[in-house]
Amino acid sequence: MRDKARKTAIETIRRAGGLLKENLGRSRSVEFKGAIDLVTEADRASEDLIMGEIRKAFPGHGILTEESPEVVKDSPFKWIIDPLDGTTNYSHGFPFFCVSIAFEEEGTVVFGAVYDPMLDELFTAERGRGALLNGEVIKVSSTDSLDRSLLATGFPYDLRVADDNNFDHFSAFSLKAQAIRRAGSAALDLCYTASGRFDGYWEMKLRPWDVAAGALIVEEAGGRVTGFGGGPFSVYGRECLASNGLIHERMIKVLKGPDRDA
Ligand code: IPD
Ligand code: CA
Ligand code: CA
Repeated sequence: MRDKARKTAIETIRRAGGLLKENLGRSRSVEFKGAIDLVTEADRASEDLIMGEIRKAFPGHGILTEESPEVVKDSPFKWIIDPLDGTTNYSHGFPFFCVSIAFEEEGTVVFGAVYDPMLDELFTAERGRGALLNGEVIKVSSTDSLDRSLLATGFPYDLRVADDNNFDHFSAFSLKAQAIRRAGSAALDLCYTASGRFDGYWEMKLRPWDVAAGALIVEEAGGRVTGFGGGPFSVYGRECLASNGLIHERMIKVLKGPDRDA
């Protein structure tokens, strides 16, 4: 079953990514879910394709996906899908976006795939079996100081109205890290951390589909993924701190605030 799930995920994610790439720059209708949170025709087309394939291959499985109501089945198996991570980028023709598919068994993500169709980069991981980029093993970086680290983050869609909008953490890390990138795709931020392009990543107010596949990919690449305080990470927990492990404690200190200098 796991083999069939892996095969279905990989075939489907490549097709969905291809569809997004083909339609880049052509997205006609943009609908706003909030002041700055949007959904395009491409999000829905990608989601329809993925859901169709999963339902065909595994009619009994649950499906949690961003743009449709959750399909809840009496099943230990659940698919967690972001049909387009980086929608804002996509809608502007900024070519940094991906598709993310994770497969959960009894509440644990056991397989994850993230596909960037622009670079034709497929990141995958299976629990206990390592992480791969286009079939080659990937590892986190060996950077062990914050001031040599390239970090990534993102900002929540409610940043205009909520006080906990990540600006404080962003300022604090700006003074500690070598540099910070806000590239606009949480799933790719995690995969870039897994492959050593970034040394660490933090973000708040995330949803399961943003992180389910990417967090497993970081762990399987030898990195560490926790909540901001260092406690266990949950894909349902909304907060994610991921790193190469070596700078993790330093990042926790910065996230704790100015009293505990890193
Ligand atoms: C968003 C992106 C962004 C992150 C947001 C996510 P979406 O996902 O991953 O980088 O900062 O938290 O919601 O809306 O493009 O699928
Ligand atoms: Ca997302
Ligand atoms: Ca999305």
